[in-house]
Amino acid sequence: MFTKIIATGAYVPEQTVTNDDLAAIMETSDEWIRTRTGIRERHLFEENENEKALRAAAQASEQAIKMAEEKGFSREEIDLIIVATSTPDFTFPAEACLLSDRLGLPGRAAFDISLACTGFLAAFSTASAYLASGMYKNALVVGVDVMSRLLDFSDRSTAILFGDGAGAVILSSDERFREGAESGVQGSILRSDGSRGSVLSYDPIYKNGEGKGSFFMEGRAVFEFAVREVPKLIKDLLSGSGAKDQAETGSTAEAESKAGDEASELKPDDRGACKEAIKPELYVLHQANYRIIEAVAKRLKEPMDKFPYNIDRYANTTAATIPMLLDELLRSGRLRDGEEVVMAGFGAGLSLGAILFRW
Ligand code: COA
Repeated sequence: MFTKIIATGAYVPEQTVTNDDLAAIMETSDEWIRTRTGIRERHLFEENENEKALRAAAQASEQAIKMAEEKGFSREEIDLIIVATSTPDFTFPAEACLLSDRLGLPGRAAFDISLACTGFLAAFSTASAYLASGMYKNALVVGVDVMSRLLDFSDRSTAILFGDGAGAVILSSDERFREGAESGVQGSILRSDGSRGSVLSYDPIYKNGEGKGSFFMEGRAVFEFAVREVPKLIKDLLSGSGAKDQAETGSTAEAESKAGDEASELKPDDRGACKEAIKPELYVLHQANYRIIEAVAKRLKEPMDKFPYNIDRYANTTAATIPMLLDELLRSGRLRDGEEVVMAGFGAGLSLGAILFRW
């Protein structure tokens, strides 16, 4: 059984907030933000807008449905809806149930997945496993986050990093979309290290809307984790090999400059990893920091032109970064038939995920 991405969509809210706009309300500068992160601007919902996550998810989904319909697909064929989000409109009902209704698709299997920035990869893997099992045939997978809900604009160390947005893909196991014999999802790996959960967390404080939750991030620790673990995860995905259990520490600068092949400190779960060594044409990485993307490219000994990015325009939209970038690549003609593409990300958990597909 094969599973294939047949369409994508993306949405960001209208309001653009530049680094200079942030510098007007907190002690920071465009220069600091650009050189440390690569971010120039982000899109944020206005505070008084309602149904933020639902509207963003629905707009991205409608775009994906429109693209799929141009290939002879009908929205009625969607039988599974999974939404990855950490910032739903409600704790319950699940965003996916509301989205199913908003799209005019009642009665579908619909649920949310919460894995922060790795959420889209977890939702995509789940959908592709369901499709591979034959239980469902066509899945709508959405990554949406309204990070402006959580941000504390008096905390310059976190508020500058995030944006709001949504991305959607339609995955199908229908034979009519099998254009190349080997096209479709080739493998996936998810990993987590809950012992490091405190490094990046948000405590919502369930108190009738009184007070705001608290956002905590050890930026440097997250940076080092990403630079160390993402390349290893990708190598394991591409080779099918396991990684040893060995800890390593170091500064951000060291993490960026070292380009070795150290063993992973996470125990791997290699189910679904590929069996042969593969050299992908594109790496669609989670957009958290341009310097992380550069450091991952360096460790993989791959040129930067294989690592497209849009963090400069959207910042880190959490579960939405990967499907938003995928949508841009597809619409600009950058995804070419037969090419192998890796999607990989990391985030709170601490968690990691990587997926390989052939376009
Ligand atoms: N503007 C100006 N100065 C800032 C600032 C801002 N927005 N935020 C922090 N600083 C200051 C710090 O207070 C610190 O000052 P000090 O040296 O006087 O104490 C200095 O800049 C350096 O801070 P540091 O945290 O060492 O910078 P860094 O090079 O590690 O970059 C991040 C900080 C957050 C950009 C970087 O660590 C990062 O991107 N980490 C990953 C975070 C991430 O991706 N999170 C989401 C994961 S999905």
